[in-house]
Amino acid sequence: MNVKDRIRSKLPEWRERTARLVHDHGSFKVADVTVEQIFGGIRGVPIQVSDISYVDPMEGIRFRGYSIPEVLKLLPRPETGQYPLVGGLYYLLMTGEVPTQEEAEDIEVEWKVRSNLPDHVFQVLKAMPRYTHPMTLFSQAILALQTESIFARRYYYGIHNKADYWEAFLQDSLNLTAKLPVLAANIYNLKYRDGIYVNPEPNRDWASNFAHMIGKEEPDYADLCRLFFVLHSDHEGANVSAHASHLVGSALADVYLSCSAGMNGLAGPLHGLANQECLRWLLKIREHFGRVPRRDELQVYLESALGKNEIIPGYGHAVLRVTDPRFTAQAEFAQRFMPEDEIFRLAMLVFDILPSLLIQQGKVKNPYPNVDAINGTLQYHYGVKEFDFYTVLFGLSRILGLTTHITWSRILGKPIERPKSLTTKILEEMIDREAVNLAKEGK
Ligand SMILES: CC(C)(COP(=O)(O)OP(=O)(O)OC[C@H]1O[C@@H](n2cnc3c(N)ncnc32)[C@H](O)[C@@H]1OP(=O)(O)O)[C@@H](O)C(=O)NCCC(=O)NCCS
Repeated sequence: MNVKDRIRSKLPEWRERTARLVHDHGSFKVADVTVEQIFGGIRGVPIQVSDISYVDPMEGIRFRGYSIPEVLKLLPRPETGQYPLVGGLYYLLMTGEVPTQEEAEDIEVEWKVRSNLPDHVFQVLKAMPRYTHPMTLFSQAILALQTESIFARRYYYGIHNKADYWEAFLQDSLNLTAKLPVLAANIYNLKYRDGIYVNPEPNRDWASNFAHMIGKEEPDYADLCRLFFVLHSDHEGANVSAHASHLVGSALADVYLSCSAGMNGLAGPLHGLANQECLRWLLKIREHFGRVPRRDELQVYLESALGKNEIIPGYGHAVLRVTDPRFTAQAEFAQRFMPEDEIFRLAMLVFDILPSLLIQQGKVKNPYPNVDAINGTLQYHYGVKEFDFYTVLFGLSRILGLTTHITWSRILGKPIERPKSLTTKILEEMIDREAVNLAKEGK
C-alpha cells in the first residue's frame, strides 16, 4: 500500500486514541516542574507525545518501537547494497509499519520523481559568499524552496478543513525530502569542488545518489550513507531541532519553514556540531603521539585530560545511560569495511579505556560513547574531510524525522504551542506564599 493510503488507514485509530486520552484523562498529572528544571532548560519535563521514535535511557533509540539492530535487519535493502534503503525507513517512520520491498522502493521512486530543484534555489546558494557555513546554506536553500509549498498555496486559496491539512503536509514532506540529496550535494560541490554540478542517476537509491553526486563512488560509501541516514533520522520529539520545527509548525507554518527552523537549531555547537569536535580530538591525539598511541600511553593521556577537567567529546549523554546503539552500529560497519583504519583503531582504544576512567572520576552520568564518538571517523576514512559539512549530513538525515513529526502533528490536529513564562518576581512570590502556607500548617 502506498504511504498516503497506509497513513489514511491508520488515521482513525490514532485520532481516536488521542481524543480518548484528552477526553477521559485530561486532568491526569504527568509531571511536576521544579524551579531547577525551569532554569535548567526544561530538562526531563515531558512536553510532547510523539510516536515516531523514543529514546530509552537503557537501550537507546527505537524507531516506531524497533531497536537499531531490528531496523537494520528488517528494512528492505537495495539489490546492490548491504544496508537498508532509506525509503524503507521513511515508510516505517511515516506509517509505523515495516515496509515490503515494493513499498520501500515506491518511496524511492516517489523521491526520484520529485527530486528536481528549481533554479532560484541554485541562484540563492551561488549568491552567498564562499565562506558561508554549509549549514547556513542548507537552511537558506530549504527556505528558498518554500515557494513550492503545496500546503501554503492550498491554505491561501482556502482549504479550511483541518482534518485535510495532513495530506498537503505529506506532499510537502515527500517533495522536500526528495530534494535533500541534490541540495546537500550541491552545497558540497559549491563549497569544496569548484561548484561542479553532478546529476542524480535514475538507477540509484536516495543515499547512493548522494554519494555519487559528491564524487564518492566506492560501493562501501553508499552503504555507509544508507546506514548513517537511517541512524540519524530521528531522536524523539523534544530535542532542539525536533522541538524547534514542531513549535514553528504548530503555528501552521509549512514543512519548509518548520524544517529550516529545525536546521537552525541543529547548527548550534551544543546540538549538531558536536561530531566534528570528536574527530578533531582524535586527530589531535594522533598528532600528539605522531601515531596511534599504545594502550598505556593513551591511558596516561586520558587520565591527564580528565585531571584537568577537560570534557571528552563523544562521551556522555543527556538521556542515554548506555553505549549509544548508533555508535555500536557504526563501529560494526567500520570493523567490517575498514578495520585497519588508524583513527578507527584509536576511537576503539579510547572506548576500551575511557568509560572506566570516567566512572572512577565519578562526575559524568553516562560514561559511555554517544554517536558522535565515531561519526566523523567513518566519513574521514572515505575522504569526506570537510568537517563543516558533517552537520549537513546529519541534517539531511534528521529532516526525515522532522517532516514525519510535523505531518503527524497535522494528522492529530495538534494546536499551536503556547507554554507560559513567569517573571522572577512572580516565581519568588509563589515560593514565599508556599512557605507561609506551610508555616500555617505547622510543617
Ligand atoms: C552530552 C553532554 C552535553 C550531556 O551533558 P549533561 O547531561 O549535563 O552531562 P552530565 O549530567 O553527565 O554531567 C555531569 C558532569 O560530568 C561532566 N561530563 C559530562 N560529560 C563529560 C565528558 N564527555 N567528559 C568529561 N566530563 C564530562 C560534566 O562536565 C559535569 O561536570 P560538573 O559536575 O563538574 O559540571 C555532555 O556529556 C558532554 O558535553 N559530552 C561531550 C560532548 C558530546 O559528546 N556531545 C554530543 C552529545 S550527543
